[in-house]
Amino acid sequence: MVTIKEIAERSGVSIATVSKIINGKDKHISEETRRRVKDVLRDTGYVSNAIARGLKIRKTFTLGYVLPDITNPFFAGLARGIEDLARDRDYSVIMCNTDNDPEIEERSIKLFKSHKVDGILCSNIVSSNIGERGVQYYRDLLGDIPTVFLDHVGLESDVTRFGYVQVDSLNAIYKGTKALLDAGCKRVACITASQMESCMRINGYYAALEEAGIARDNRIVYVNDFSLETGTVGIRKIMENDPTIDGLMCGNDMIAVGAMGYLNKIGVRIPEQIKIVGIDNIPISEHVTPKLTTVAQPIYEMGWEAANMLVNYIEDGIPLFTKTFEAHLIERETLKLQNVN
Ligand code: RIB
Repeated sequence: MVTIKEIAERSGVSIATVSKIINGKDKHISEETRRRVKDVLRDTGYVSNAIARGLKIRKTFTLGYVLPDITNPFFAGLARGIEDLARDRDYSVIMCNTDNDPEIEERSIKLFKSHKVDGILCSNIVSSNIGERGVQYYRDLLGDIPTVFLDHVGLESDVTRFGYVQVDSLNAIYKGTKALLDAGCKRVACITASQMESCMRINGYYAALEEAGIARDNRIVYVNDFSLETGTVGIRKIMENDPTIDGLMCGNDMIAVGAMGYLNKIGVRIPEQIKIVGIDNIPISEHVTPKLTTVAQPIYEMGWEAANMLVNYIEDGIPLFTKTFEAHLIERETLKLQNVN
């Protein structure tokens, strides 16, 4: 079976040029070169690597990606990184959205198995029930399918069996809460999602309050999921309990945008009356008014790295591992109005 190296030699071009032409990424390659290489491909009956490998070792060159909320741009960003890597490596991706339903997540993973995917990427359920299922549940369900979790390593994790790509999310919410306190806030509320006990973001919020000598007050804390509605419902309940809050730390940008919508509706001025910080840095965060301050996760890179780790294991047996990214604060108008020049 002719190899891509032989195609390159016969065409008088580099392997990279041949690969770009095969994958349709040849817009910067001259028409003459493109035609010459395609003639060699046709004349030699070259079979693309993916099909050849599939024929030889009966792989499907397919990855499964199961995510909890396709309406959340955070997971769309992860999926973009995953897709780009997969396409570059001749893999396709089957995506399943679970709407945070553990039964749908289980059915999705079983669907991947029936399609004999070569590997699975899993963005865990972000509601509270994940802790009840624990890592043994995933070991049994996933069997020996190479799997990388795009989420938070906690007590219910097995770093010897699975790969993990994560952000230190407790530190992320700590950074956001500290930014609010450093900006002069005295009563910082928090709205976030319930997650595995071992990595609940609320603990980063509490750590920043404790460091500043501020007592917890659960009347200004609301915990549910990572949705817009949680932001709207949460801030309404918190304002009913204590309208004197002057800061709001949100577990993600969707919650923050939901809370901002409610506060704008009741005429609360942001940041003059209440400063707000989110987490993720989804694209809309810099397009809302005022622009949202957020603790950014490198979303695309996380998806790309997870897929890269998985394909390197499938192709070359490079062991899965845990990769932790740092989140960094992006200061925008909900923390401090920018000087209008
Ligand atoms: O926005 C969704 C959230 O769930 C993100 O912050 C991500 O960390 C995931 O856990």
